[in-house]
Amino acid sequence: MARIVSGNDGQEADLTDGDQIKDSCEELGVPFNCRKGICGTCLIEVEDGMENLEEKNDREVDMGLSGNQRLACQCRIKSGIVKIKY
Ligand code: FES
Repeated sequence: MARIVSGNDGQEADLTDGDQIKDSCEELGVPFNCRKGICGTCLIEVEDGMENLEEKNDREVDMGLSGNQRLACQCRIKSGIVKIKY
């Protein structure tokens, strides 16, 4: 089981191990636009559980994100809990 927790307001969304996190993040209020890793609208900060996400993909690396930043439209969760802020 995997879970995304919003550091903004404490809301939670459960998902399946290995899922993309975008739908859960949208449910929690993260804004989206292109959904292709281009615009940066879905930028999130991972407050806890970065190790529970798959490695940054090429689009995230190309955007030059700092250590705890991710693009919610590009991430997959391995399992466990990831706390985000946006
Ligand atoms: S929605 Fe555009 S980069 Fe994620």
